Amino acid sequence: MSGPSESESGKVGTPELFDKVVNLTKRRGFVYPSAEIYGGFRSTYDYGPIGVLLLRNVKDAWWRSMVQLREDVVGLDASILSPPQIWEASGHLANFTDPLVDCTNCNTRHRLDKLDDPEVCPNCGTRGSFTEPREFNLMFKTQAGPVQDAGAVAYLRPETAQGMFINFKNVIDTTRVRPPFGIAQVGKSFRNEITPGNFVFRTREFEQMEMEFFVHPDEAQQWYEYWCAERYQWYLDHGMPEEQLRLRPHDDDELSHYSSGTSDVEFLFPWGWDELEGIANRGNYDLTQHAAHSGEKLEWYDQAANERWVPHVIEPAAGATRTAMAFLMAAYDEEEVKGETRVVLRLHHRIAPYKVAVLPLSKKAELADPARALAQQLRGSFMTDYDETQSIGRRYRRQDELGTPYCITFDFDSLEDHAVTVRERDSMEQERIPLADVASYLRERMI
Ligand code: GAP
Repeated sequence: MSGPSESESGKVGTPELFDKVVNLTKRRGFVYPSAEIYGGFRSTYDYGPIGVLLLRNVKDAWWRSMVQLREDVVGLDASILSPPQIWEASGHLANFTDPLVDCTNCNTRHRLDKLDDPEVCPNCGTRGSFTEPREFNLMFKTQAGPVQDAGAVAYLRPETAQGMFINFKNVIDTTRVRPPFGIAQVGKSFRNEITPGNFVFRTREFEQMEMEFFVHPDEAQQWYEYWCAERYQWYLDHGMPEEQLRLRPHDDDELSHYSSGTSDVEFLFPWGWDELEGIANRGNYDLTQHAAHSGEKLEWYDQAANERWVPHVIEPAAGATRTAMAFLMAAYDEEEVKGETRVVLRLHHRIAPYKVAVLPLSKKAELADPARALAQQLRGSFMTDYDETQSIGRRYRRQDELGTPYCITFDFDSLEDHAVTVRERDSMEQERIPLADVASYLRERMI
């Protein structure tokens, strides 16, 4: 963690919150340090049984909004291994660098532009011990095939975006899309970050959710504004509190080499405001570059107007892993209940790992068997947990910490009245619901 919190509020932005959330994710099976039995591996993480559900839900919620519910966006899944030509054309080989300095006193490496004081080593506190900055390219280089020659050089993609540009022609030739339209992709990207950190906020292997929206050049500004508003709203719609979210336009000196306008959706992390997503007006930079480097025409032919033009691109580019972490930070809450602290993740139901948990009051087969049958029935529609261990109070607490919106208790009365008790996570209110109505009760509240 670095830097002080910018928040005045008790919950938002306290350094303790960061530690509590990281602790919870480890304790409850969200995220584990990768290769932990070998001492861990360089800021890489594995998503455990609960984390994989959370991350998948973040990606599915994005895909639902960006592809499923839209007529004008199609999906793609491009390869991660890619030839140097792509990165030559995109400008990544020349420009995708960070300024690296070494401390000659303690031999640590730092990213110059992220230091609080560019003269002082944050590790040993020595002033004036840095080497001259060197530009360090963030791409992971590897080789494809057994022969180590120049022709075998390949890169792990540092962003998913280029997959959409190099497939622009394939998509317009094989589908019915016409501008304005988008191509969306979710997948892994790799950057050899100099200073990964803050848990999964900045890692070398991470997941992105990106969409390239191709528009007529005259309409680029209007679509840029549209996507800024849409993307900001998406986070609110999925439960981010307004006071922890902002849309910040970049200053001119922050803009990437391709961008004529960028705004970041920022979240108030415990260390201050930081980026979740960038929405960029990339102009026709990418299609023009790939057309020049590949020799393919990457343009749109408007038959009705008999006009050819190179579409401009608006790109909302979000991080899935980073967003999952922000959802956890925003959802974490503690409250006093009957003299005890209740930890609860107030996650939006679409993001919550499990939607419902079935908890028989006793492990005896008499209750466990029908409770299991109910869980199995619900699994067809909802991600459902089943738990018969420990006291009911402890089981509720566990589900609260996982963010499960509904717990269903199957008790001895259930055998007589064919009803169960449904407990809502946030209010802890309980309702008796006929067994036959449970699925529709949940569906009404969650879909
Ligand atoms: N195609 C544009 C692009 O990749 P970016 O701002 O470099 O833009 C987009 O990346 C998003 O990807 C960021 O807003 C962030 O959420 C996520 N991201 C970038 N680098 C990351 C890293 N090292 N670890 C985790 N997420 C990262």
